[in-house]
Amino acid sequence: MLCLAIESTAHTFGVGIADGKGNILANARDTYKPKAGWGIVPMEARQHHEDVAGKVMEEALAQAGKGLKDIGIIAFSQGPGLPPCLYAGLNFSVGLSKSIKKPLIGVNHCIAHIEIGRLTTKRKDPVTLYVSGANTQVIAFVSERYRIFGETQDIGIGNALDKFGRQAKLEFPYGPKIEQHAKGGKWIGLPYVVKGMDLSFSGIVTEAGKKLSQGESMSDVCYSLQETTFAMLTEVVERALAHTGKREVLLTGGVAANSRLQGMLDTMCRERGAEFAVVPREYSGDNAAMIAWTGILASRSGAKPLAAKKAEILPRWRTDQVDVRWIRR
Ligand code: ATP
Ligand code: FE2
Repeated sequence: MLCLAIESTAHTFGVGIADGKGNILANARDTYKPKAGWGIVPMEARQHHEDVAGKVMEEALAQAGKGLKDIGIIAFSQGPGLPPCLYAGLNFSVGLSKSIKKPLIGVNHCIAHIEIGRLTTKRKDPVTLYVSGANTQVIAFVSERYRIFGETQDIGIGNALDKFGRQAKLEFPYGPKIEQHAKGGKWIGLPYVVKGMDLSFSGIVTEAGKKLSQGESMSDVCYSLQETTFAMLTEVVERALAHTGKREVLLTGGVAANSRLQGMLDTMCRERGAEFAVVPREYSGDNAAMIAWTGILASRSGAKPLAAKKAEILPRWRTDQVDVRWIRR
């Protein structure tokens, strides 16, 4: 059974195809790029997604060497995300499901980031650090759900880095630029904000911006921004490991591409005798292969297909609201 899936929660419009054995046959995408100095403009992103949808789907079918007649299930990223972007994906998916008369499955985007990580790194039961633009969550599977042990109280770590990058007039994409500038930097001190198991980043970004305007070097500020925020994340992951007694850590989401964050978590895991795994670069940022694979897991474990007329977007759908029927412990 092949699942063709649509991703459209934010910048990226993607089409992925997966089979029932966990083979990813296609992972096509096209990403909206905001104007220099701007963040995402949701209506522009929606227009982008609508414009490229047909082309990206053709590309995915070509990558897989398949036609629409071979597809058994349509899945789409139902939330969380920006409503205009989600509508682009919903409308395209509903139209497709009607035209090829195949069931439509709604997938939670955050859970898909975890499932593609588990699939590609062969981890069974990790504590997951899911770090992307909008999301920052420390998650572990307990009692039939992916429970959130800690999360950001304001912006996601990716958006925090992007916000600083824009203020500092770096080039897009900001995360990798900050990573480059941080090399060779020295510690100048920034606030460290962990509240229980939760985190807060926006005050640190403001402070980092101030340091820059007070004449500290770009390299030192980028270094301190990474060291501070990544140490905060590592601390919370370590406590989740100790609390749950799990032995594996999985790093997933767009910010998983950062080698300093990988290094810090790796060191912490070594010291605790836990195994550490990072999702491969191709699947760290938003992609539809992860939606296709999660669509397979959900439909195999009895998820009800959505009726085309009633299908809706779920912009605030939380990780811990999903019944994860495909894992039994
Ligand atoms: P979500 O809906 O899951 O929040 P998203 O739209 O933010 O997803 P992702 O592609 O998962 O998208 O993540 C994008 C984020 O990853 C951006 O904020 C970007 O700056 C960040 N990022 C990418 N590469 C790096 C890197 N090397 N270091 C730090 N951050 C990075
Ligand atoms: Fe994402």
